[in-house]
Parts: sequence; structure tokens; C-alpha cells
Amino acid sequence: MRVEDPKFKAELAAIAVELRPGASLAALTSLGIGGTTDLLRISKRQFIPDLISLLERHHIAYKFLGGGSNLLVGDGELPWVILQLAKPDPEIVLDGNLAHVDAAADLGRTVTYCAKHDFGGMEGLIGVPGTVGGALRMNAGAYGMQIGSFVREVKLYRAAERKIEILRGHEISFEYRHTSFAPDDMMLAVTLELPSKSFKEILQGIRICNEKRRSSQPLGQKSAGCIFKNPPGASAGRMIDELGLKGHSVGDAKVSDRHANFFVNAGQASAKDMLTLMANVRSRVEKSFGVKLEHEVVVWNA
Ligand code: EPU
Repeated sequence: MRVEDPKFKAELAAIAVELRPGASLAALTSLGIGGTTDLLRISKRQFIPDLISLLERHHIAYKFLGGGSNLLVGDGELPWVILQLAKPDPEIVLDGNLAHVDAAADLGRTVTYCAKHDFGGMEGLIGVPGTVGGALRMNAGAYGMQIGSFVREVKLYRAAERKIEILRGHEISFEYRHTSFAPDDMMLAVTLELPSKSFKEILQGIRICNEKRRSSQPLGQKSAGCIFKNPPGASAGRMIDELGLKGHSVGDAKVSDRHANFFVNAGQASAKDMLTLMANVRSRVEKSFGVKLEHEVVVWNA
């Protein structure tokens, strides 16, 4: 979708929104798949309610993009514009055991920054790609921990209320790869409460997690992490592997040879290829194990 109206463009500029015409979602996502549309970069968060009313007045559909690391976007010209937060400076402010972190901050860098100041707990998240906002929205986790456990409060744009609000940790439910945020809520910032630990001890934990990740996941390849959630008490990767589907492909969309729940873009995969591969694997798992796998990856298909 292209923004053409000069009056609308001027209104965007007036609320400090930068218009990047014809952005490629393939370039903005870790899977490297997705068509093109206009990208609207937000630098002044207080104007988000004005931006949303402006878009609605002009009948322009929109979606919020975080770090693009758990996302499969459709092919071709997309029927909505993309909204993304520009990174503020600083992204993280420490105050005792509290870390006030902007939603646009990189998750790995946040873990490292806190570690350098002797705050730990999030060691398992070091290799999880994406932004803090994206991790928060889906309650990202790995190696026995999840970001939700550290959340003291969250600042967000609540689409239903059309305003920016602050929610306390106990008002949000964090479950396995799921939260109580509404799909159209936009994460803006989070306050994390972290345990004190020595940098040395945190580093040791980080090294162990990195080693486990390197030995089991296809880190150098274009993927969205695990494509399906694990069903209760089982591993999607193990089931897909047991069916001999490692290496199975549709076009350039391929089940990783290393970890069967990672589907990689081995070249120029289209969203159609990836969705077909996901549907094939899902139906094979259902037929053999009687389990309906649920997507972990968020799909924005036009
Ligand atoms: N396994 C296989 N073959 C495979 C993959 C896994 O046999 O191709 C077996 C492993 O040998 C192991 C079991 O399945 O016995 C579980 O595998 P793993 O430890 O790799 O964990 P997982 O359940 O596949 C989960 C998360 C990962 C997270 C790791 C480590 C989900 C869907 N996946 O993977 O998260 O990094 O544990 O904590 O919850 C993600 O969410 O994107 C993600 C990568």
C-alpha cells in the first residue's frame, strides 16, 4: 500500500512519523520473506493515538512490526502499511534492580547490558533474536525461563482504549508463548525487575545456553525460530524429525536438517512456499500423532 496524498504526508511529518516508501518486508524479517509496502517509523510515542486516528480517517489499514524475527509476511504488494518504533537513546535505564527498557531495544543487547551491570535471570534469552517489545508480546522463552517472569510493568498503546496506558505485571497473564495483550496492542516500554548476580556467573550461564543453541539450532540460516508451538508435554521438533521430514522442502522453504521445528528460507522462498510446507508438515503430524500443531510464527498474509 502506498501513501500518495500530500496532505496526509504533511500530517505524518507533523507528528514526527517518518515515511519510508516501498519498504521490503523480506529485508525486515529474519525469514527474509515478504512483499512491499510503506513503512511508518514512529519517533514520538505520545503521538501514537493521533497517528492511529489519522490512519483510520484515511481508511489506511496498518500493522505493528517489532524486530520481525517471529513473522511470516505474505508476498507481493501488501494491503496495509507497517508501523515501527524508532529506537530512542538511551534504550535502557537502570534504577536499582529495575531496568526500564524501550520496546524497540534489541533483546540480546538488553540481556548483555543488564549482565554488565550485574543483573541476571535472562541468560536463556541471549540468543533469541528480536526486540524486547516482540519478546514481551509473545512471552519469549528458552532454557527454562521466559521474559514474563521479570515484568514489573508495561507501557503500551491499548488499541481498544485508544490511549497509552501502563499495566502492572499482575494485570498481565504470561503463559507459554502467549500473553493476555490484545493483538492490536502495541508494546512501548517495559520495566523488568532482575536478580543481582555477578557478571562472571551470568556469563557462564550465557555460554552454556549459547552452546546448547549452537549445537541444536540452525543459527546461520534465515528462519523465524521454531515454527510451531510445542504441544503440552511433547516436542514438535521431535515429532517432525521422527516422520523423517528433515530436509523436506517446497520451493526454497525447507525443514531444517539440524532442528525439525525450524523451517528455513534456503534461497528465494515465497510466503506461499512456506505456508504450503507448514500445511504439509502439520497434516503429516496430525495423521501420525493425532496432534494439531499450533503456529508459533505470526502469519500476516494478505
Ligand atoms: N529433537 C529431535 N529432533 C529435532 C529437534 C528436537 O529429536 O529435530 C528432540 C531433542 O533431541 C530433544 C527434544 O526434541 O530431546 C526437544 O528439543 P529442544 O531441546 O531443541 O527443544 P524444543 O522443544 O525443540 C524449545 C523451544 C525453543 C527453545 C528451546 C530451548 C518451542 C517451540 N521451542 O525447543 O524456542 O530455544 O526449547 O529452550 O517452544 C522458539 O520458540 O522459536 C524456539 C526456538
